[in-house]
Amino acid sequence: MIILGIESSCDETAAAVVENGRQIRSSVIASQVETHAQYGGVVPELASRMHIEAIEPVVDKAVCDAGISLDRIDGIAATRGPGLIGALLVGFSFAKALAWARNLPLAGVNHLEAHIYSLLLLEKPPQFPFIALVVSGGHTNIYHVASPHQFELLGQTRDDAAGEAFDKVSKMMGLGYPGGPVIERLANAGDPGRIKFPRSMLEKESLDFSFSGLKSSVARYIHLNPEMDEEQQADVAAGFQAAVIDVLSKKLIRAARLKKCRQIGIAGGVSANQTFVNELKKRAGNHRIKVFSPPLSLCGDNAAMIAARGFTMIRNNDLCTPDQDVFSRSRI
Ligand code: KG4
Ligand code: ZN
Repeated sequence: MIILGIESSCDETAAAVVENGRQIRSSVIASQVETHAQYGGVVPELASRMHIEAIEPVVDKAVCDAGISLDRIDGIAATRGPGLIGALLVGFSFAKALAWARNLPLAGVNHLEAHIYSLLLLEKPPQFPFIALVVSGGHTNIYHVASPHQFELLGQTRDDAAGEAFDKVSKMMGLGYPGGPVIERLANAGDPGRIKFPRSMLEKESLDFSFSGLKSSVARYIHLNPEMDEEQQADVAAGFQAAVIDVLSKKLIRAARLKKCRQIGIAGGVSANQTFVNELKKRAGNHRIKVFSPPLSLCGDNAAMIAARGFTMIRNNDLCTPDQDVFSRSRI
């Protein structure tokens, strides 16, 4: 079964063709990041307008790159939420119209479930059940994934998402948007142990997160040290990153032990952070827990993961009805 996936929840317009939920025939991503970077973050109104311009050429390219015509598509999967309403509406309405015109089944995909499915596109994917962390600019959610359709939310952030903390710290340091890749690069040159920033672990057994205290602590440090040279800046980046990685790793291992799972998967924009991947692998290895992370091309927003999730929904007859609308906040 060949599925066309469509994603437009934030600042990437993406389309992909995936066969049998596993084989990526094409994946096209039109990123708006350079436009939003000028404003220090995503401007929703601009995002919607740019999605409208990009959606048709991106879908055309995905179908063309797959070496097929639209006639070969067996089903369509589009992100229904969570995300920016105006942005979601562009991709979802496009998908609805295409599905209706071609009489194809349509799956309305949850973006967070789709990020977890980016792990199932790996050559050697995790086996059910496993623990999954979706960690991006908008979310820091830990799930117990018992089956292809069961996602139990074990913990989430109570304030900022981890990616958001990277973006805010980068902004404070005048390093631009998005912050994750810049902070990671800078941190590589720094000493993660020189400045000890706080790690918020919350209640003893909690699997929730809080990153706002860490963010304030970094802000305070920058305020008190206005004349930092490059080496000191690198130490701030490394110290901040180490605090985020420490908390994420501890909670993930706690979740795996609690649920007696020997597999942890991480997905979403922050899972592109190689320092995090390596540290988590090291720590999880001590507990004989295996770590899975997507290739860089599938860490950020993409439509291959939407098609992969949509495939299982369509196969399960979990289809979208014409009255279904997009949603901004997740129910899982
Ligand atoms: O999944 P994603 O592309 O979009 C959302 O759904 O939010 O994630 C974007 C987030 C941004 O906050 C960005 O700073 C962060 O992922 N990010 C990183 C890295 N690359 C991207 N954070 C830490 N280290 C990275 N290398
Ligand atoms: Zn995302």
